[in-house]
Amino acid sequence: MARGEGTAYIAHVVPGLEEFAERDLRTHLGDIEMERVLRRFDERTSLLLFRFRGASRALLTQRSLEDVFALAAASPGVPPDRKGLAAIRAAITGSPVLSSALTAASPLRVRKARRVTYRVIARVAGKYSYRRVDVQRAVERALGETFPTWRLVEDDAQFEFWVHLVGGDLIVGLRLSDITMRQRIGERVTLPASLKPTVAYAMVSLSRPVPEDVFLDPMCGSGTIVIERGEVGRYRLLLGGDVDPAAVDVTRRNIGPRFKPIEIRQWDARRLPLDAGSVSAVVCNLPFGKQIGTPGEIRALYPALLTEWRRVLDAAGRAVLLAGDRAAMAWAVGQGGWAMERRLPVMVRGFPATIYQLRPV
Ligand SMILES: C[S@@+](CC[C@H](N)C(=O)[O-])C[C@H]1O[C@@H](n2cnc3c(N)ncnc32)[C@H](O)[C@@H]1O
Repeated sequence: MARGEGTAYIAHVVPGLEEFAERDLRTHLGDIEMERVLRRFDERTSLLLFRFRGASRALLTQRSLEDVFALAAASPGVPPDRKGLAAIRAAITGSPVLSSALTAASPLRVRKARRVTYRVIARVAGKYSYRRVDVQRAVERALGETFPTWRLVEDDAQFEFWVHLVGGDLIVGLRLSDITMRQRIGERVTLPASLKPTVAYAMVSLSRPVPEDVFLDPMCGSGTIVIERGEVGRYRLLLGGDVDPAAVDVTRRNIGPRFKPIEIRQWDARRLPLDAGSVSAVVCNLPFGKQIGTPGEIRALYPALLTEWRRVLDAAGRAVLLAGDRAAMAWAVGQGGWAMERRLPVMVRGFPATIYQLRPV
């Protein structure tokens, strides 16, 4: 694809997964042109700005993305004083990409309504003499002027415009995805420590899945990781378990009749009822932070877990683990049996955590 060709898009990704998402998009979509990466727009979101020539619908099946937008307007250097609001309105009314955004969105978001409805969501980072709601109103007004027949609504709009303003940099997207993109399915039951499916997907991908996999999440919570593994491709067996019977129950409900063969069991991840060397990949979101009592308890738990998982893992196996306590993890890995291949810092629900790629030695 030549530079500047195709439609311009914005994707929301979890901070830390920007490069992973870029690679993943290239693998699945082929030719994309990455224009900018805006890291940590806020604690939970980074922005990827890229161009893609294929059908916008193809973007909605990308498991690494939280949300996808067609670029509707952009302007660098929005003044932080009152003049900023006029600049924002002008950026919308004079946007050269607004019509291509509508073209990208129309086949995806059409619902029968006599008049096109729209709403505006504004996210603002940085210091300005105006408020977030002023930014929202400025964009609402500019769109109202541009499309006089459109109707502004509070909810359930055909077109949702998301405004990102960071350090005077204005990026406006017309939302193509809906909540099902990041939550996967509307009816998934979550537990307080449930992982974002996009993070679970990244961890599963980093485990380099192959059809021969006997895949294990020994502390599966609501089953997010097991579900992502089941979705990405073939495997020999899926195994999941949790010490909490309520979590086992939730996982079974979230999985439903999908994914055979699969076993979801109640167990203690420090004493697994599995043979030595019987597993090819362990992917797990370890308890950390307030999920489990004191740092001392975490320090005792991690080495016990790693020793047991080393036992069940095949010599050529892979482990991908998410944990928040770096020192506890370094200490546990230092007890032996593992080589640290890579550490990937990510933000998980606004808190810093690390994805560890380990291999048995
Ligand atoms: C961070 S949560 C996992 C969340 C999961 N990835 C999800 O998306 O729902 C950690 C889980 O470890 C479980 N757990 C804690 N100690 C355990 C143990 N000794 N054996 C097995 N599971 C344990 C907890 O019950 C909790 O469900």
